[in-house]
Amino acid sequence: MADLDDLKDTKEYYLDIPQKSEAFYLKGLNAIDWGMQNRLARIFNPKTGRTVMLAFDHGYFQGATTGLERIDVKIMPLAAYADTLMLTRGILRSIVPPSFTQSIVMRASGGTSMLKELSNEEIAVDIEDSIRMNVSAMAVQVFIGGENEKQSIINMTRLVDQGTRYGIPTLAVTAVGKDMVRDARYFRLATRICAELGAHYIKTYYVEKDFETVTASCPVPIVIAGGKKIPEFDALKMAYNSIQQGAAGVDMGRNIFQSEAPVAMIKAVRSVVHENETPEKAFELYNSLKANE
Ligand code: R5P
Repeated sequence: MADLDDLKDTKEYYLDIPQKSEAFYLKGLNAIDWGMQNRLARIFNPKTGRTVMLAFDHGYFQGATTGLERIDVKIMPLAAYADTLMLTRGILRSIVPPSFTQSIVMRASGGTSMLKELSNEEIAVDIEDSIRMNVSAMAVQVFIGGENEKQSIINMTRLVDQGTRYGIPTLAVTAVGKDMVRDARYFRLATRICAELGAHYIKTYYVEKDFETVTASCPVPIVIAGGKKIPEFDALKMAYNSIQQGAAGVDMGRNIFQSEAPVAMIKAVRSVVHENETPEKAFELYNSLKANE
């Protein structure tokens, strides 16, 4: 039983100090629950409000693609430099040690391979498994304008509903069909639909023209996918431009793990995202680190 005899009448009420009520630092996410904000704070560094997500979930429709043949050998040495890992539950359980404490964004949609119509996806993970795996967010592909547009949007809204019940945010990944034009107009449409229907943050692609209109018209944070492997300087420039034009980070895969020097590359990307380093300076950093890799 608690000892009640010696209780002192404390006077430390600090009546002159109003209790702080801070706004959450990520745009559009002030009105979500504590658990969800806490998970997002594990993805987006609270000091910079930005994230470097290392994406290696490609195997969920492509199999063992170039650079991902052995995730234990090629990817895990990079993991320490990422703010979060974007992967599938199969790889999480089979390769990532449970002692790894950085955040995890888990792909939660699937159902087709690159041999078939990719938009024909469904939710492919139970919410219970996301909870069991202690993930910080779940990712779902959304095919605006694609053959199975409605199905993919409903996958997203279901995931948002399930995640909201347990405080797990949803990342909507805007997937662009092969024959569709990747321009600011398309991405304004796709990202806004995802945000309007409840996604907590959105992955899209960078476009040279008017990208700032995509980030401005999307009420929640945007991160950019890296896309196909391009020269390191160009990838750093793309990351820089996207950040300067309002993106809250990158979700980059091939341009890191297919680089000649992946550790040097992820460190250079970090400098662009978290320190606003210019592409020129970041490329210098890449080259100097590459010499030691
Ligand atoms: C692809 O389907 C996955 O969603 C990847 O996570 C995404 O495309 C980012 O990887 P990358 O930078 O290689 O495009």
